[in-house]
Amino acid sequence: MKASVITSFGGPEVLQEADVPTPGPGRGQVLARVHAAGVNPAELTARSGGFGLPAPAIIGFEFAGTVEQVGEGVTGVRVGDRIAGWPDSFVQGAYAEFTLSGNYALIPDGVTFEQAAATVIGADNAARGLALLAPERGETLVVTGASGALGSAAVQFARLAGLTVIGIAGRDSLPYVESLGATAVEYGDGLVDRVRDAAPDGVDAALDTAGKGLLPALIELRGGTRRVVTLADLDAGRYRVQFSGGNPGNRRNQFVRTALEHIAAGEWRTRIGRTFPLSQAADAHRFLAAGHTGGKVLLVP
Ligand SMILES: NC(=O)c1ccc[n+]([C@@H]2O[C@H](COP(=O)([O-])OP(=O)(O)OC[C@H]3O[C@@H](n4cnc5c(N)ncnc54)[C@H](OP(=O)(O)O)[C@@H]3O)[C@@H](O)[C@H]2O)c1
Repeated sequence: MKASVITSFGGPEVLQEADVPTPGPGRGQVLARVHAAGVNPAELTARSGGFGLPAPAIIGFEFAGTVEQVGEGVTGVRVGDRIAGWPDSFVQGAYAEFTLSGNYALIPDGVTFEQAAATVIGADNAARGLALLAPERGETLVVTGASGALGSAAVQFARLAGLTVIGIAGRDSLPYVESLGATAVEYGDGLVDRVRDAAPDGVDAALDTAGKGLLPALIELRGGTRRVVTLADLDAGRYRVQFSGGNPGNRRNQFVRTALEHIAAGEWRTRIGRTFPLSQAADAHRFLAAGHTGGKVLLVP
């Protein structure tokens, strides 16, 4: 199969297309033919060596595709089914024509592979972060990074749960954030005042999905760190704010399935920034690293 293989970690140029053996599914796994792979900030870190992965590595931490082979002990899916999920290994990932997975959701009719691949990590992390805040119907929630993969999912889960949402994003993304049902507020100087104008009765909880130094503003809005959670800011400890990291043990494919069902029902939006062929994985990484992508970045084998 074709894959984007890293033989030594470093800049985007270390992502090199190569022919490698197609893996076979182990117990509890399916072999999935990848139709779209999300390109994520964590993959920039992995590629540059930040995760200490062994080489050679095929990264790519979310995918959408079809079941090609079913391993022993797998139930509930058949060859040809459309699925979206996580590759089981950080080095046998989704930047490839095929990947191995034991954690996935079926993609409902009417949802494209691109939409599904753009939803996996965003929906799962957003739902986990929201659960930690335990927001209740009628409360007001601030979401930073509201135009991003995690933030847009958080806004939409929260709106469906009956919350009022203030979504913080860049100027160009404000119409998109409004289209998700949030009141959109631009980040930058004066952020706290703008949020207070938008939420005169106060803010009940705040979810940071941007990781761009907004924790002091969220703490100020909340009057403390209670019911402030970040999924993205590595300075969380310094501010005594709760950080929640996703890992293979806390991934919940039912959150992905729920989001995909909402897409199928026409009540959930995904935004694709740009799609690159697998052979241009390095360019996809450069595009994501430049920021303000206008939506999810995808690789299509
Ligand atoms: N906890 C976990 O396990 C976990 C899992 C996945 C991702 N993450 C982290 O979550 C973060 C978001 O990931 P993602 O995939 O959602 O990224 P993304 O789709 O690229 O979204 C990034 C968001 O950050 C906003 N942003 C950019 N510059 C900003 C600034 N200077 N101030 C405030 N906001 C700014 C963007 O707004 P505009 O584009 O509108 O400017 C956009 O809303 C990343 O740091 C990622 O590493 C954590």
